[in-house]
Amino acid sequence: MAIDAGEGIGYVAIMSEESPSSPADSDASSGSGHGWREQFGVTSLLNTMVRGYLIPHETNTFWYTLGGVLGISLALELVTGAILVFVYTPDAATAYQTTKSLLESGWWAPVLNFHFYNSYLIFGLVMIHMMRVFVSAAYRGAKKGLWTIGVALAGVVFALSVTGETLHWDERGFAVPWHVGEFFEAVGLAGVFDYSHKSLLDVAFATPKLIQLYALHIVILPALLLLLVVLHYYLIKKKGISLPFWHKIGGRKDPFSTHMKAWAMYGTPIVGAVVVLAFVWNRDPGPAPQNLPISPYFGAEHGPGGLGVTSTFPISWTHGMNRFVSIVFNMEPDIWGTVIAMVVMTLALLLIPLVDRPRTEPRSWKEAFDLRTRGWAFLLIAAFWATMITGIVVNQVSPVG
Ligand code: HEM
Repeated sequence: MAIDAGEGIGYVAIMSEESPSSPADSDASSGSGHGWREQFGVTSLLNTMVRGYLIPHETNTFWYTLGGVLGISLALELVTGAILVFVYTPDAATAYQTTKSLLESGWWAPVLNFHFYNSYLIFGLVMIHMMRVFVSAAYRGAKKGLWTIGVALAGVVFALSVTGETLHWDERGFAVPWHVGEFFEAVGLAGVFDYSHKSLLDVAFATPKLIQLYALHIVILPALLLLLVVLHYYLIKKKGISLPFWHKIGGRKDPFSTHMKAWAMYGTPIVGAVVVLAFVWNRDPGPAPQNLPISPYFGAEHGPGGLGVTSTFPISWTHGMNRFVSIVFNMEPDIWGTVIAMVVMTLALLLIPLVDRPRTEPRSWKEAFDLRTRGWAFLLIAAFWATMITGIVVNQVSPVG
């Protein structure tokens, strides 16, 4: 189903800030010609980015709005994260108790629950959006850079999930700096970064490490995410969006505002379901980290993995791949599993537009699934999914280690 453009169908007047005859402008300026919209350049921005930006009518449909719904979901994640900054302190001695108290508070629990459940939605939407783009082969020709920015966005979303997991500071959260320590030790950089996983058992040593991951989570990665999202949207506008070959293309154009209405229409039930979940289902704070005396694991001989405490679903493939290389190749330290999986998955995605040779997008299901022209691309996306699914499954069947 495509959203109807209403009055804007097929024709959009491109209004300029200087145009006094435009009704929108005269409303804004209350007749003076110097309203706040002109003063802050809003009229010009709306004319360029929304009213005067025409897109194919057929892109106002479900599969082509998921990138926008993902944008809404990311924006809400940033807003709830910014609110949580006022009540969270990255102190290894108190962070677990802070999280637990927030989850017991009627006011804060929905905010924290939403921030947590919404990260699952973001993961799901990134994967579905990426697969929609892959099936459309919408990276061909001049859009290879656009796909590459998308891959970088997926990487930043992954890094946000990992650093966010740390902040719960339960045993799962504690596993993050623990594995960072193992990684630095494996590549011989432990001295440079003053990182040893065993030292994390000392709370005084753990706090600066928690603060570093907190800084990444609340400043560095969100800034990078915003930059990449702006670049992503700019390139879509500049290079032009593909056409959904599974619809009959009529040639009609709609203003971008119609597409934004479609975002709202599909986004409301999807994000709304997460809001409801956040109010009715409190997330478990998990067991306290093993470096606190209140933890059931205090004084344990093993790290979180050895105790069978594994990461949350969107990043569970990391622990699964650690287990995989340890079981199948006897590889130690097993953190190499995560490193190898990250390299394989990133390379697979980056190479897709380079091996998918045709310059134009497919116009039918037959062309989209033509293995003679797209065989290598399908092989690479299969490698991506095989790695992730192997990690997720191994994490389920053999979590301890
Ligand atoms: C993580 C945040 C992301 C956001 C907010 C986002 C947003 C969007 C939006 C709004 C569109 C317009 C069409 C649509 O909604 O389907 C789009 C298109 C596109 N995206 Fe993304 N995207 C993200 C991630 C990705 C990823 C992970 C990839 C691929 C690896 C990717 C590759 C593309 C490409 C190539 C297009 C052009 C599609 C076409 O012309 O049909 N994006 N993105």
